[in-house]
Amino acid sequence: MGHILVLVVAAWALLIQQQAAIAEEQHDELRPITLPGCPDKCGDISIPFPFGMIPGCFREGFDITCNHSFQPPRAFLAYREGSPIQATTFSFFSVNKTSGNYSLVDKANGPIPPVELIDISVAESDARAYGPVAFVCNTNATGGILMDTYTSMEFLVDSPEGPFLVSPVRNVLVGVGVEVQPSVSKFNTTGDRDDPLTSCSSTLNGDLQLASNGSCTGRGCCQASLPGTRPLTGVTVSMPPKTLVNNLWVTNPCSFAMVVQNSWYNFSTADLYGDTSNRFPRGVPYVIDFAIRNASCPAKGQQPPPGYACVSGNSSCADVTNGYICKCLEHYEGNPYIPNGCQGVIGGFFVMAALLFVILLRKEKKKMREFYEKNGGPLLEKANMIKIFKKEDLKEILKTRNLIGAGNFGEVYKVLLDNKLVAVKKPKTGKVEHNEQFANEVIIQSQVIHKNIVRLIGCCLEVDIPMLVYEFVTNGNLEDILHNNNAVPLNMDVRLSIASQSADGLAYMHSRTSNKILHGDVKPANILLDDNFMPKISDFGISRLIARDKEHAEYVIGDLSYMDPVYKETGLLTEKSDVYSFGVVILELISRKRSTYYNGNNILVSNFLEAHKEEKQLIELFDNEIADTSNLELLYSLAKIAVECLNLDVDQRPSMMDVAHRLLLLNRLRNL
Ligand SMILES: *[C@@H]1O[C@H](CO)[C@@H](O)[C@H](O)[C@H]1NC(C)=O
Ligand SMILES: *[C@@H]1O[C@H](CO)[C@@H](O)[C@H](O)[C@H]1NC(C)=O
Ligand SMILES: *[C@@H]1O[C@H](CO)[C@@H](O)[C@H](O)[C@H]1NC(C)=O
Ligand SMILES: *[C@@H]1O[C@H](CO)[C@@H](O)[C@H](O)[C@H]1NC(C)=O
Ligand SMILES: *[C@@H]1O[C@H](CO)[C@@H](O)[C@H](O)[C@H]1NC(C)=O
Ligand SMILES: *[C@@H]1O[C@H](CO)[C@@H](O)[C@H](O)[C@H]1NC(C)=O
Ligand SMILES: *[C@@H]1O[C@H](CO)[C@@H](O)[C@H](O)[C@H]1NC(C)=O
Ligand SMILES: *[C@@H]1O[C@H](CO)[C@@H](O)[C@H](O)[C@H]1NC(C)=O
Ligand SMILES: *[C@@H]1O[C@H](CO)[C@@H](O)[C@H](O)[C@H]1NC(C)=O
Repeated sequence: MGHILVLVVAAWALLIQQQAAIAEEQHDELRPITLPGCPDKCGDISIPFPFGMIPGCFREGFDITCNHSFQPPRAFLAYREGSPIQATTFSFFSVNKTSGNYSLVDKANGPIPPVELIDISVAESDARAYGPVAFVCNTNATGGILMDTYTSMEFLVDSPEGPFLVSPVRNVLVGVGVEVQPSVSKFNTTGDRDDPLTSCSSTLNGDLQLASNGSCTGRGCCQASLPGTRPLTGVTVSMPPKTLVNNLWVTNPCSFAMVVQNSWYNFSTADLYGDTSNRFPRGVPYVIDFAIRNASCPAKGQQPPPGYACVSGNSSCADVTNGYICKCLEHYEGNPYIPNGCQGVIGGFFVMAALLFVILLRKEKKKMREFYEKNGGPLLEKANMIKIFKKEDLKEILKTRNLIGAGNFGEVYKVLLDNKLVAVKKPKTGKVEHNEQFANEVIIQSQVIHKNIVRLIGCCLEVDIPMLVYEFVTNGNLEDILHNNNAVPLNMDVRLSIASQSADGLAYMHSRTSNKILHGDVKPANILLDDNFMPKISDFGISRLIARDKEHAEYVIGDLSYMDPVYKETGLLTEKSDVYSFGVVILELISRKRSTYYNGNNILVSNFLEAHKEEKQLIELFDNEIADTSNLELLYSLAKIAVECLNLDVDQRPSMMDVAHRLLLLNRLRNL
C-alpha cells in the first residue's frame, strides 16, 4: 500500500513538472519582447526592444544588423556611417631583428569590423559581444628573418552619449604567455589614449613547469580587474614587444591578452605553446552595459519626459552613469521597455505551475533550515555577536554585477550594506565538517577588533557552505600591489610600515590569552591595504575550516610558496608556522620578487639564505627602487629578521610578538 502511494505521488510530481515546463515555454512564447509586428530573433539570438532590426522596431542607437549569409544568422550592432561605434583596430608592427628597426606594417584603416553580439539581457541591462584579442608573436617571417609581430587591440564601444559602455565589473584583463605584461588604457572622447589604467604580468623565468592549469596567478597567465565601477567608453589593450629567452620562441612564439568576461577564460598550459594568434577566431566574449543616455529618471511625482523609455506598467527606472535603465518591479518579469512588457510571475500562469512553485519553495525552505542548523546557526544565535544574514538578504548582492573577484577559494562580491561597503565571500567548494567548531570560530573572530585585522561583520548559514561578510578594504591586496601593478611606487617607509603593522595584527591574534587564533596561510594575497596603505590581514582560521573538506582533511591547506616546511611535513599548525610565512612576506617586500615554489624548492627563500652569508650578495636581491645607501642598513636589518623567521629549527624562530616589536623599533628609529 505504502509503495503504491509513493508511486502515485512520484508520478503526480513528474506530471506537474512537465506541465510546468510546457506552461513556461508557452508563456515565454506568448510574452512579447518587441513591439507588435517586429521580428524578435536573429538566428538563435533573441532581440528584445529597445534593440531591433528594422526601422520603427528599435530605439535610436539600438539598431541591429542581422546577417543572413551566416548559418545560423549572426547579429551585429549596426555600423552607421559616421557613428562612433567601432570594434577593433588592429595594427601590425614588425621589428626586423637584424636591423633593429620597427615598422608599421599595416594599420587597418579599412572597413572596421562591426561588433558581433552573443546575447542580450534586458533584465541585467547588458549584452555580450565578441571582442578582439591582442597578441605578440615571434614569427619566422619570409626570408628566414626572425620577426616580432606586435598587435594592439582597441575597442571603442560607443561615445559617452551612445548607449554602450564597457562594463568594468564584469570584464577582466587577462594575459597569457611565457613573458607577458599587458596593460589597459582608456579611450577618452577625443579618441586619444589615456595613461594605462591597469596592468598585470606573468613571468616563468624560462621555467615552463611553473605554469599550471586553472586560475591566472602570474605564472603563464595573469589577470587584473578593470579599475573603478563606472563603465568605460572604450579600452585599449597593449603589450610591449616580446623578448624571449633562448630558443623558446620556437615552441612558444606567441603571447596574447584580452579584455574578457569575468571567469570565462580557463588557463591551460597548452595555450603557451604554438601559434596562438588565431586561438579565438571569432574573438572572446566581453560584457557591455547599455542604458538610455543623456537623461535621468523623472523625480517622484514628476511627469516623465518625452521619449521616456520605461513604458511598461509595473516597471521602474534606475539612474546609472550618464543615463538610466528600466527594470520590472519585483515579482514581475519581461521587458520594461515595451507597453505591458512586465508581467506577473505567478498571476497569469496555470495553477499547476503555481503548485510546483509552492512545493519547490517548501523544499528550499527546509533545505535552508537544515543548512542553517548544520552550520551552527543556533549556537551563533545564542552568542548574539554577529549579524546573521538570511539567504534572501544576500540574493540581491550575489549578482554578477557586484562580482569583484574569483579564484580557487570562490567568489567575492562588493556591495553597499547599511551604508557600509562590505565584501561577501562565497566559497566554491568545501564543507563545514565540525559545525560547532565553525560557529565557535565565527564567534571568536567577530570579537576581534584590531586595526590590522579585516573585520568580520556577519555570515549567512542558510547555504551549504557558509558565506562570510567582511568589511571592504579599498586598495586591494599586497600581492597585486607588489607584483601585478608595477605602476605603484612603494617607498621604503610604506614597505616598513606595511611589515610592521601586519606583524602587529598577527602578533595580536597569536597573543590573545583566551582564544589564540592562528592564520595558517599568511601571504601577500591575504594582506589587504586601505586607502593609506594600512595593512589589514584577512582570511584567518575560518576559511581554513571551510577548506578542510573530507578529501583534504589529511592534507595541509595553504600556499606552498609561503608554507613552513615543518608544517608541511607534520601537518601540525603552530604559531611558528605563521612566523615562517611572515618571513617570506618580508623577503617579498624588500625584493619585490614573487616567492615561488618549484620541485620542493623555494627559489626566493634559498637565494636569500644563500646570499645572507655575504653582504655584497644580499644587496643584489634588494629591490632597486629602495636599495639606495640611505636604506641599506634598514634593509639588512629586515633581511636578518626574515632569515631568523625562516629558521628550520622551529624553536630558534622568534615569536610574532618579538618580530612585531623589532619592526616597531625600526619604524620608530626611522621616524626620529
Ligand atoms: C554579411 O557578412 C558577409 C561576410 O562577412 C559580408 O560580406 C556581408 O557584407 C555582410 N552583410 C551585411 C548585410 O552586412
Ligand atoms: C632586415 O634588415 C636587414 C639588414 O638591414 C635587411 O637586409 C633585410 O632585408 C631586412 N628584412 C626585412 C624583411 O625587411
Ligand atoms: C632603420 O630606420 C632608420 C630610420 O627610419 C633608417 O634611417 C635606417 O635606414 C633603417 N635601417 C635599416 C637597416 O633599414
Ligand atoms: C624559418 O623558416 C624557414 C622555412 O620554413 C626555414 O628554412 C628557416 O630555417 C627558419 N628560420 C629559423 C631562424 O628558424
Ligand atoms: C546626447 O547629447 C549630446 C549633446 O548634448 C548629443 O550630441 C547626442 O546626440 C545625445 N545623444 C543621444 C543618444 O540622445
Ligand atoms: C584624452 O587623452 C589625451 C591623452 O592622454 C589627453 O591629452 C586629453 O586631455 C584627454 N581628453 C579628455 C577629454 O580627457
Ligand atoms: C592542462 O590541460 C591541458 C589540456 O586541457 C593538458 O594538455 C596539459 O597537459 C595540462 N597541463 C598541466 C600542467 O596539467
Ligand atoms: C571555463 O570553465 C567554465 C566553468 O567550468 C565554463 O563555464 C566556461 O565555458 C569555460 N570557458 C571556456 C572558454 O571553455
Ligand atoms: C500591474 O500588474 C497587475 C497584475 O499583476 C495588473 O493588474 C496591473 O494593471 C498592472 N499595472 C499596470 C500599471 O499595468
